[in-house]
Amino acid sequence: QSTEVLVFGSAIIDFICYTPRLPKPGETLHGHRFQTGYGGKGANQCVAAARLGSRTALVAKLGTDTFGADYLRQLREEGINVEHVQQLEGQTTGVAQIGVSDGGENNIIIVVGANSKLSSCDVAQAEALFQEAKVLVCQLETPIEATLTALKSFRGVSIVNAAPAMENTPRELLQLAGIFCVNESEAALMTQMAIVETVEQAQTAIAKLIEMGANTVIITLGKLGAVFGSAESKGAYRHVPAPHVPSEKVVDTTGAGDAFIGALAHNIARNPKGKLEDSIAAACAVASQSVQLPGTQASFPRT
Ligand code: RIB
Ligand code: NA
Repeated sequence: QSTEVLVFGSAIIDFICYTPRLPKPGETLHGHRFQTGYGGKGANQCVAAARLGSRTALVAKLGTDTFGADYLRQLREEGINVEHVQQLEGQTTGVAQIGVSDGGENNIIIVVGANSKLSSCDVAQAEALFQEAKVLVCQLETPIEATLTALKSFRGVSIVNAAPAMENTPRELLQLAGIFCVNESEAALMTQMAIVETVEQAQTAIAKLIEMGANTVIITLGKLGAVFGSAESKGAYRHVPAPHVPSEKVVDTTGAGDAFIGALAHNIARNPKGKLEDSIAAACAVASQSVQLPGTQASFPRT
């Protein structure tokens, strides 16, 4: 049976410190809990889709350290095709240092290590997957040249999650993406808007991203859900609200965006003729579930 969702991107080990609030520059704080987790936006998105029942494959790089070996085992356990997940000699597995406040806010530093070696050759090597997959998902934690090659080699529905945002995103990335998806702060950085927080601001940002060459754009707005549109929508960009989660139930928003992307990819692959709005609504529901449990992949629902 052929692959439904193909993810070309990052795999990172998360070191998560839970703390009353996020530290200021130069400040040391006592946190109250520590946890390691399997993360990285690419692997997170792949796991989110796999847990919902998609047949998934991941193209990614790990180190030959114990983190890499553990991660490979974990991906296999999730039922992901890891034929093209490679452990590279002399490279460290990517790591992320994550702080999560009691309010559920986070900040993240990533050192991508082996992820920086994902290249255009890897696209050629995984050609069979690129031919058969229904949906391709890429992010920006791995080299952009390889991502552009991946997008050029794919004929199905491609989703580019431009995260973490780059200041000078090549126009080609927007043009090659079937669906271009960013969150509030990424949208602001890319469009040079001071702030993108409200539905109206997201609509303005979508117009700018379309002007920059994007096809279909989705901007996620956390608890407000998402706004989407394409050039054909002629300025009528639609808002899809997220299910309400009471603030006392929000424990960790890390990876919620990845849960959204993975669920979106799953729904589009399963329902290629369905309405994008319905796939976005289903993805918002999955992301809302993920914020109610700690961790990234650890919080993603299974069906
Ligand atoms: O989107 C969340 C992810 O971003 C974390 O898992 C961390 O690895 C960083 O890459
Ligand atoms: Na979570």
